[in-house]
Amino acid sequence: MPVFSDYPQAYPFLKWAGGKRQLLGQLEGYFPSQLEQGAISRYVEPFVGSGAVFFKIIQSYPIQECLIADVNPELILVYQTIQKDVEGLIEQLADIESYYLGLDAAKRREYYYQTRLNYNDQRRLINFSKFQATWIERSAFMLFLNRTGYNGLFRLNSKGEFNVPFGRYKNPRILDAENLRNVSRLLKLVRIQFGDFEQVAEFIDDKTLVYFDPPYRPLSETAHFTAYSHIRFDDRQQLRLARYYRQLDKQGGFLMLSNSDPHNLNPEDDFFEKAYQGFRIERLQAKRNINRNPEKRGPISELLIMNYS
Ligand SMILES: C[S@@+](CC[C@H](N)C(=O)[O-])C[C@H]1O[C@@H](n2cnc3c(N)ncnc32)[C@H](O)[C@@H]1O
Repeated sequence: MPVFSDYPQAYPFLKWAGGKRQLLGQLEGYFPSQLEQGAISRYVEPFVGSGAVFFKIIQSYPIQECLIADVNPELILVYQTIQKDVEGLIEQLADIESYYLGLDAAKRREYYYQTRLNYNDQRRLINFSKFQATWIERSAFMLFLNRTGYNGLFRLNSKGEFNVPFGRYKNPRILDAENLRNVSRLLKLVRIQFGDFEQVAEFIDDKTLVYFDPPYRPLSETAHFTAYSHIRFDDRQQLRLARYYRQLDKQGGFLMLSNSDPHNLNPEDDFFEKAYQGFRIERLQAKRNINRNPEKRGPISELLIMNYS
């Protein structure tokens, strides 16, 4: 049985809003002790995004089987392309990179918007459920847009179109071929699934660790909301997730879930204490800033909800 830590180290290949890189050190302190002891052999991440926790866990502990999932079809298409034809992707991205880096600032901007247009036009021609050659070009476009777009956001509007503006980076690293090859080696052993978080239950047993990192509940009505897709993750969705968490707890499995901490703005707001009553709730200090006024900025806390001690 292959073990993921036998391969060269692979890292997240996308910039992703809400990426967990900065919080990894703190999160690690709360992993179940059974992970180190080898009593956990499966890992599931139903809101995988750029996969910071996924890459960390499967390469640091004796995980044997793994499932990652996300409801964003474009994201899953890229994961599956890297799994199936990383060399094809590297070739196309290398062409884009060398062409792009040879352009002056104005032409780069023009090229970005033209690629964005091509990417959105191409969408209706894509069969998302069956790997085909066009996936390779689409993934190359997506990685290019992710590296050169504003803040590395991947935002889709209500029509499902990518609408992030140009990012103005001096020397963006568009292609990291070595990392993509290392990612591909790992992904060949991973089940990659498109769909809603509720579709992972059958993979979970009492030797499985599940990490949920859903879109965070906004701290206030007016807080900037990061839309990952055209489907809003509102309080009803948060409660649907809490019910699912409870169901999986009964089924067996070690569960970890991140979310925002409403107490940062309103100590009276016990939304998560109620929804996850009976589970262990810890507060981690994130470096994220929520205040636009620099003088009022400081660390804010985030929740980590576990079903083990
Ligand atoms: C906070 S991000 C995860 C960030 C990730 N931990 C990382 O390090 O990049 C939330 C992810 O949930 C996905 N998502 C939103 N609604 C979902 C749903 N109903 N089921 C599954 N995934 C969903 C989004 O597409 C997004 O990638």
